[in-house]
Amino acid sequence: MVILGIDTSCDDTSLALIDHNRRILAHIISSQADLHRLFGGVVPEIASRKHVELIDIIYNEVLEKAGIQAGDIDLVGVTSGPGLIGSVLVGLSFAKGLSLAGGIPLIGVNHVEAHAMSIFLERDVEFPFVALVVSGGHTVILSFDAPCSFQVIGSTVDDAAGEAFAKVATFQGLGYPGGRIIEEMARQGSPDHVAFPRPMMDDVRCNFSFSGLKTAFITYAKKHTIDASTINDVLASFQEAVCDVLVAKTFKAARQSNIKRVVVGGGVAANGRLREVFLKRGKQEDYEVMIASPLFCTDNGAMIASLASFYAGSGTYSTLDIKAYSRMVMK
Ligand code: KG4
Ligand code: ZN
Repeated sequence: MVILGIDTSCDDTSLALIDHNRRILAHIISSQADLHRLFGGVVPEIASRKHVELIDIIYNEVLEKAGIQAGDIDLVGVTSGPGLIGSVLVGLSFAKGLSLAGGIPLIGVNHVEAHAMSIFLERDVEFPFVALVVSGGHTVILSFDAPCSFQVIGSTVDDAAGEAFAKVATFQGLGYPGGRIIEEMARQGSPDHVAFPRPMMDDVRCNFSFSGLKTAFITYAKKHTIDASTINDVLASFQEAVCDVLVAKTFKAARQSNIKRVVVGGGVAANGRLREVFLKRGKQEDYEVMIASPLFCTDNGAMIASLASFYAGSGTYSTLDIKAYSRMVMK
């Protein structure tokens, strides 16, 4: 069984081929970061145009890399949402074309669910587990009781954590993509320099708020002179506040659900400090914490192929009239 996975939800065009054991046969992630850097953030129209230019080229490249023919593909998995609608549409339309032309079954998957399940590209995880997906567009806690079966138990009420990293980086003029740059600078700084707030820590539910933390950073930056000797410390303090809240809320959700298994995914989960804090807390409280390799945390087609394999296992396929969507419905 050969599964093609396609993700064009944001600014990366990524296609992967995996086998029935979720072993990667070929995987290409084409980043548009150099284009969007000029504008300080993702420009949706440019992102979708670039996907249109690249998608068939990358499709042919993954086939060549894996040494297989188009006719060998048994299943096409594709992100049908959430994401930038114009970008999602490029991948979804391409997937529908392949499905129709080759008579190949199609499965449209939820990009956020794929982030939560991306760990299965590297190892199996027993159910149930609690998953934190922390990315540029989403910060949600999901509770999985089986493959393809989850509930939302917490989410951000305003900005996503990745968005907060990006906005702070833009405000400070640090460049793009902000999250990775802040992580690198924060590595040289002290997290105890500024006592930034830990928003909604006492909230009984497991929701997050990052907009206030971003504002706290901006307010601090306007009141104090941040120079080369303090910038790393201020960024480390900001990063620490984000990490503290993410870890505290995820463990709270796991405790409330009586589940001792925690999975972390999404672009921000590539952050070294967040990974460190999660693993440390897991050890302290005797929880199993599992985080995918950084390559599988940020957007990638392999996680889409992998999730499609689970849906195929449960016999859930999509029809050709499946629609693209931009927002995740929080059920
Ligand atoms: O999952 P992802 O690739 O795309 C979305 O689905 O949004 O996540 C992208 C987000 C961006 O906001 C980026 O700034 C953040 O993940 N990110 C990081 C790091 N690497 C990527 N944030 C903090 N530290 C990082 N190392
Ligand atoms: Zn993503």
